[in-house]
Amino acid sequence: MKALYVCDDKEEWNFIRNLFASHFPKVELVCVIDGADAMEYISYEGPFAVILIEAALKEENPSKITKNLLSVAGERPVIFIGEKVHVNDRIDADLYETSEMNHIILKPIEIPTFKEKVKKAIEWAKNEEFEKSIEEIEKEELLPMKLRNFYLFDSVPYDVFLELTSTKYIKIISANKRYVHSEINAYAKKNIKYLYLRKNEYLKFLEDGIEKLLTIFDSNQRLGAKKTISNQIRSILIIHQYVQTVGVSDSLTKLCDAVISSTRDVILEHKKFKNILQFFPTAHADLAEQAIMTLYLSESILTALGWASETSRKKLGLASLLYDSMLKNDDLSKITSLEDPSLPMFTETEQIEFRDHPLKAAEIARQFSAYPDADFIVAQHHERPKGDGFPSKLSTNRLTAHSCTFILANNFITKLCNSGKEQGALLNIFREVKIVYNQGNFKEPILALQRTII
Ligand SMILES: [Fe+2]
Repeated sequence: MKALYVCDDKEEWNFIRNLFASHFPKVELVCVIDGADAMEYISYEGPFAVILIEAALKEENPSKITKNLLSVAGERPVIFIGEKVHVNDRIDADLYETSEMNHIILKPIEIPTFKEKVKKAIEWAKNEEFEKSIEEIEKEELLPMKLRNFYLFDSVPYDVFLELTSTKYIKIISANKRYVHSEINAYAKKNIKYLYLRKNEYLKFLEDGIEKLLTIFDSNQRLGAKKTISNQIRSILIIHQYVQTVGVSDSLTKLCDAVISSTRDVILEHKKFKNILQFFPTAHADLAEQAIMTLYLSESILTALGWASETSRKKLGLASLLYDSMLKNDDLSKITSLEDPSLPMFTETEQIEFRDHPLKAAEIARQFSAYPDADFIVAQHHERPKGDGFPSKLSTNRLTAHSCTFILANNFITKLCNSGKEQGALLNIFREVKIVYNQGNFKEPILALQRTII
C-alpha cells in the first residue's frame, strides 16, 4: 500500500518517513515537494491509499492542492499535518469538518495520535480495496480507445484503464466518477494515445459518443464556425473508431450526415478556405483534423467551381470522413505513396495496413446507400495523374472530375499539415501541387483551389 506526502520541507520528509517505518512498515511513503509533483505521482504511480498534506506549504495553497488531487484520484482519505494556526488558516473547513475520512494531525506530533489517525485512514482505504485497482487483465478482454475521445465526457459509466505492461493495467477512471480534462491532457503530454475499456463496454462508449454529438448537432442553435469544427473533429475520432471495430450503423450514418451538412453554413459564412483556416484548430494535425480540413477544402473547391450540388457535396463529404478511417496509427497520415522513404520505418502490419487502407475504407463507404460513388473517390484518393499512385495506378483520363477534386484537396491538406505554419505556406504548397497535378480533369479544380486560398 502506498501513501503520498506533500511537503516542501525535506527535513519533515525524514521525520514522517521514520514514523511510517516504525509504525506502518508495510506502507510505502512517497514524498513530493509540490502540487505539480503530487499530480504527476497520483496520475502515474498510484494508487495511493492515503494522502498527507503539510498545512504550512509556503508557495502553494494546501486546500487547492488537495482538491485537485482528489479530483484526479477520486475520493480517498487525506490527513493534514501542521501547527494549529496553519491548519486553521490554510485548510478549508469543509475538507475536514464534514468529512469522516479526512483527519488532522497537529504538530508537535504525538505518536499515539499519529498512529490512530493513519490507522483509520488505512482502514478506510482497505475497505475500498484500492489495492485492486492495479489489475492483471488479459489483453483480449480490453480494447483500446483513443485518448482524445475522453474529452467528450466528464464521467463514463465504465471503468477506464491505462496500460502499464502488456498484462498489467491500472484503473484510472472509475465508473460514474467525474474526471477532469486536465487529467486527460496530462496523459496526452506523456504521449499516451490510448486508454482501455472492457470489450463489452467499448461499443457502449462509442454509441454514447455518437448520441452526445448528435444532440449537439441537432440542438437547432447555431453553434458558430469554431464550435462546429471542433465538434466535427470530435465526431471523426468516434467515426473512425466505430468503422474500424463495429462497421456502419444507423446512428453512425446519422452522425456522418450531421457532420457533412454542418459544413455548409461555415462555408457560406466564411466563403474561402483561407478564411476558415484562420480559426481551424490544428493542435494535433492528426487524421481527424486532416479529415475535417479535407472536408472543408473539397467543399470550398466545389463551391468555387459552381459544382456544389447536394449530391456532389455529400459524395466528397463522405469521402473526407472515411478516406483514412482504416489507419490505426496517426503517423501513417504523413505518408502519401508506397514509395515514401519513411514507410519502411513502420511495422510490417502497419505497412500492410497502409497499402490496403484505400480499398478497405471504400468498402465502408459502399455501405452508405445514400452516398453513391463516394466509395470510388475513397478508393482513388492515393492515385496520381501519371498513373504512378496506388492501389490501381489510374491516370488522369480514368479519374472523374470529382475524384480529381478530392485527390487534390487531400494532397494539399496532407502537405499543409506536414509543413508547419510558416508564412506563405498556402501559396508554396499550391505551386508544388500545381506542378504535379495540372493536367486533364485536375485542371479546373486547380484553378478553383487557387481561388479559395488567395
Ligand atoms: Fe490515405
